[in-house]
Amino acid sequence: MKKTQLEIALVGASGMLARKVQEKARAVGYTVSLFDLPDFNMTDRTQVLQEMTRLQPDVIINCAAFTNVDGAEKEQSLAMVVNGTAVGYLAEAALTVNAILVHVSTDYVFDGQKTTPYVEADAPNPQSAYGRTKLAGEQAIIQSGLDKYFIIRTSWLYGPGGNNFVETILRLAAEREQLRIVADQVGSPTFTGDLADAIFRLLDLSASPQPPAPSLYGTYHFANEGSCSWYEFACEIVTLAKLQGLPIKTQTLLPIRTEEYPLPAPRPAYSVFSKDKYLVATGAEIPGWKDSLANYLKSRNNL
Ligand SMILES: NC(=O)c1ccc[n+]([C@@H]2O[C@H](COP(=O)([O-])OP(=O)(O)OC[C@H]3O[C@@H](n4cnc5c(N)ncnc54)[C@H](OP(=O)(O)O)[C@@H]3O)[C@@H](O)[C@H]2O)c1
Repeated sequence: MKKTQLEIALVGASGMLARKVQEKARAVGYTVSLFDLPDFNMTDRTQVLQEMTRLQPDVIINCAAFTNVDGAEKEQSLAMVVNGTAVGYLAEAALTVNAILVHVSTDYVFDGQKTTPYVEADAPNPQSAYGRTKLAGEQAIIQSGLDKYFIIRTSWLYGPGGNNFVETILRLAAEREQLRIVADQVGSPTFTGDLADAIFRLLDLSASPQPPAPSLYGTYHFANEGSCSWYEFACEIVTLAKLQGLPIKTQTLLPIRTEEYPLPAPRPAYSVFSKDKYLVATGAEIPGWKDSLANYLKSRNNL
């Protein structure tokens, strides 16, 4: 039977980003099939190829990953299989069924030594196991022979249904008088809803009546507009939460240096993206991080 709606296979469907991707996909008229542990394990090549061949999706969106950045330092081989090798299986499946592959990657592929926004052509140099495994996933796609792919690098994600910095700060701010937050790492917070919109803007271009230029596919950077340190991000969360009447105990936020809050995985000191490639391709506006944060907190309050 001929399909009337385009079909998406959403991998990692129970995760934080996937929640918004699923919402958006249905809103714009795609049929969505969900794949996640325990029933679907993307590290099982046979299962990946069987399921994708059975479904014949038009698009495979991969939101699955080993996302525990510090945990990846200890569990490097598992992280590499999930974030690297298994992404190659998805690319192979996409090639087999002639689907577009959308894959999400990270600012942690960069070393953070730049002081101006990272462009897609900048050389990656990951400093953590997580970053190395995510870079391996990108390379697996590029080396697979698949032409129709979007690798979308993003940063500092938050949204409903996940463990993320916004939720952590709200929890701690309800419990503690004082918070100490790292102020010497700068990046761009990104709301999952905005990233989901960006994914579908790129997919729309690939589905336009004229066949897309081959140069449409490839790697893109996407984050909310503007940048801040984790400390500035936390200050904004606490300020907005107070304005919205959330129970906040915190009176003081103290800026600290990375060395004062040691973690197993090193983080880039600077990971702001240039989004010019995305802006030129889509002509879309990107919401500023403060606006998106305010909207998220409002909608979260109304849940
Ligand atoms: N969160 C951030 O700040 C951030 C920043 C930059 C980029 N990213 C990237 O954005 C993407 C989405 O991140 P997220 O925070 O939404 O992730 P998430 O909430 O951790 O969700 C990941 C999902 O993948 C599933 N998964 C893990 N291993 C799998 C496997 N072998 N087979 C099938 N599913 C598997 C997980 O299942 P279980 O929960 O059962 O393990 C989970 O449902 C990832 O590619 C991540 O690297 C995230």
